[in-house]
Amino acid sequence: MRSLRAALLATAAIGASAAAARADGEVNIYSYRQPELIQPLIDQFTKETGIEANVLFLDKGLVERITAEGANSPADVILTVDIGRLVEAKDGGVTQPLVDETINTRIPAQYRDPAGEWFGLTTRGRVVYASKERVPETAITYEELADPKWKGRLCMRDGQHSYNIGLFASMIAHHGAEYTEKWLTGLKQNLARKPDGNDRSQAKAIMSGECDIALGNTYYVGLMMTNDKDPEEKEWAAATKILFPNAADRGTHVNISGVALAKHAPNKDNAIKLMEFLSSKEAQQIYAEQVFEYPVTPGAEPSEIVKSFGPIKPDTLPLTDIAANRKTASELVDKVGLNDGPSN
Ligand SMILES: [Fe+2]
Repeated sequence: MRSLRAALLATAAIGASAAAARADGEVNIYSYRQPELIQPLIDQFTKETGIEANVLFLDKGLVERITAEGANSPADVILTVDIGRLVEAKDGGVTQPLVDETINTRIPAQYRDPAGEWFGLTTRGRVVYASKERVPETAITYEELADPKWKGRLCMRDGQHSYNIGLFASMIAHHGAEYTEKWLTGLKQNLARKPDGNDRSQAKAIMSGECDIALGNTYYVGLMMTNDKDPEEKEWAAATKILFPNAADRGTHVNISGVALAKHAPNKDNAIKLMEFLSSKEAQQIYAEQVFEYPVTPGAEPSEIVKSFGPIKPDTLPLTDIAANRKTASELVDKVGLNDGPSN
C-alpha cells in the first residue's frame, strides 16, 4: 500500500514536489524496493529523528527519471537491489560520493563502493535449491553444477537475469573467462529445460519432479515459507532444501541490496542521517527481518526463518569485482547459448 505522500510524490508536478522536498525535516527516497518492504524502517527512522520520509516507488527507469529531473531532482536517497543496478546508478551519474566514518565502520569494505557512491545494506545468497526427496547430497560447489552427474536435473531462470549474471561474474573473477565458458557449457548440458520463470518457479519445478536442483536466492525460500496469500508456495518451499555452495572453501556467492546518496540531494543532511540509520544494527535487523536477507553490519542478526536455513559463509569477493565482470558474463551466456536450453 502506497502512502499518500508517496502517491503525491509520484504524481505531482516535479516543481511542486521539489518545493516540498526542500522544506526542513524531510527526506525523499527513490526506491526500486516495494514500499511495504521499507515502511517499517522508515517508520522507525521518523520516530527517532522526526524526519518525514517520502517514498517514490519505481519499477523501472529510476536513473532516467533522476537524469531528466536534473538539478531540481527531489531525490535524496536511492534504494535498490543488485550490484548491477547500483553500478548503473553510479555510472549513470545520478549518485554522489559520501565518505562517512560511521557508515564505513559499520559496512564491510567488500559491500561498498571504494569512492562511497553506493553502500550494501543486506546480502542475499545465490544458493542451490535441491529436492529433499531426490538429492541426498548435503554439500555442493558451483563448480560441481557442471558435473555430468546432474545431466537433465538442473533448472534456472534466464541466464541473462542479473541474479545469474552476478554469480557468473563471480566465477570469472575466481577462475577466469575461459574456465567460466566451459563451466557454463556444462551447466547448459545439465539443464532439464530451457531457462524459464523466476526463482520461485524453480522450486515449483523441483516439487513437480521436473528438476532436482536449481539456482535461487535465499530470501525467496523465506517468502515462499510465509506466503499466506498463496499457500501453494509453502509446498514448493517444503519440497526443497537449501545447499550453500562452496561452504567448505571460498564461500557462497552473495549479491546486495543497497543505498546511494542522490547526485543533487536537496535534503543532504537528512539523507546522510537516513543512510547512517540504515547501517545501524537496529535498522539492519528490522530490514533483514522484513526482506529475509542477511544484514551486512557485524552483530546484526537475520530473522529466525533465515537462521533456520543454516549458516551462510559469504564469499568475500568485493562486489566491485563482480561488477567488473558482469559484461563478460553476459557475453558468455550468449556465446554458449545457455538460454537455448540443453543440447541434444
Ligand atoms: Fe528478487
